[in-house]
Amino acid sequence: MPDLRESLSLLRKNNDIREINDEFNTVLEISSLANYYQKNNGPALLFNKPQGFNNKVIIGLFGTQRRFESLMGRTINEISDDFTSLFETISSKPGILDGLKLFSKLKNFSINDVSSGPVKHSYGDITLDDIPILKNWPKDGGKFITAPVVITKDPETGTYNAGTYRMQVYDSETTGMHWQTQKTGAMHLLKAKKMHRNLDVAVAIGVHPSIMFSSISPLPEGIDEMAFAGYLSGQKVPVVHGDTVDLRYPAESEIVLEGYVDPEETKEEGPFGDHTGYYTPVDMYPVFHIKRIYHRENFIYHSILVGKYWNEDVPIGRAIERDVGGKMIIDATKKGMSEGIRREWPEKIEVDENEILKEKMKKYVL
Ligand SMILES: Cc1cc2nc3c(=O)[nH]c(=O)nc-3n(C[C@H](O)[C@H](O)[C@H](O)COP(=O)(O)O)c2cc1C
Repeated sequence: MPDLRESLSLLRKNNDIREINDEFNTVLEISSLANYYQKNNGPALLFNKPQGFNNKVIIGLFGTQRRFESLMGRTINEISDDFTSLFETISSKPGILDGLKLFSKLKNFSINDVSSGPVKHSYGDITLDDIPILKNWPKDGGKFITAPVVITKDPETGTYNAGTYRMQVYDSETTGMHWQTQKTGAMHLLKAKKMHRNLDVAVAIGVHPSIMFSSISPLPEGIDEMAFAGYLSGQKVPVVHGDTVDLRYPAESEIVLEGYVDPEETKEEGPFGDHTGYYTPVDMYPVFHIKRIYHRENFIYHSILVGKYWNEDVPIGRAIERDVGGKMIIDATKKGMSEGIRREWPEKIEVDENEILKEKMKKYVL
């Protein structure tokens, strides 16, 4: 399967990436340049020498719709068509001929279990302090990992989930885990709590855009994000098994953090300059403890910058829920759900987060 590095090669070919060889600081400097480029429809930025670090930072991967579509290999409308088609296929009762069509459609809707991969190149030689994680906005509570693929398993059923939830760096081996209460990761933790055990968590950073997109998409529970990424990209995602966690993760990730969350432990998280254009205030969230960090040789750290409109998650959001494509995805999701769940689904999703938050959070304006 193509990985993050192949995506960067594609951007080079398209002349849609700018390599920065001057030293920029990970505290506010990289983000302010990235913000400038983002607001001006500029290329993605690859910082070759973040000040004080040995590894590169890629930011702005999804900064324009054109770039997002070229990295995904299809337009936003095609992505939503794929989504609709997947759900129609899964929910249909095929005859023999349809069965063949079904097989060809779903042949990549699966994962490829492999015994090793580039991410297993090294472990034990770095901590969070060696990764060029950014502080994006002046009043942010610290540095945040903003493009993680957080992988957990339902402790009862063993069903996998991947979601993107920001992670505030507390020290060299712990971070916050900002999964909101309705998100699948939080639900897995709740089940672990009932079973009086910690929840294994693996965090992949620097993956192919189709994996990142799957992690962000509100897929119905039970649909494996890695399988969906394979379906989208046309190639099964190779996954390796963790060593200190009972989880599998993309073998071609740049970095993987293996660790756990203790359901009894929370800590202050935030503030964070969010995609609404406002700071989300400090609140209590679970803590992620790192047991081991795996990384590729010369790993590249991927960061997503959000903030005031236009920001990097607009093209992603459009594909998911804002635009024509998004509506189709939501409709398709509803179609794929059982009657019971569908009854709970709001008929119109028209909440303008910006408007609600503007009033409530004036004091947090960026
Ligand atoms: C850049 C970015 C950052 C995000 N950060 C968070 C976050 O901190 N917390 C959260 O609950 N959701 C966050 N989301 C949204 C989730 O990734 C999204 O709701 C996803 O579908 C969650 O997966 P789940 O339904 O499997 O829990 C973020 C999305 C993007 C694009």
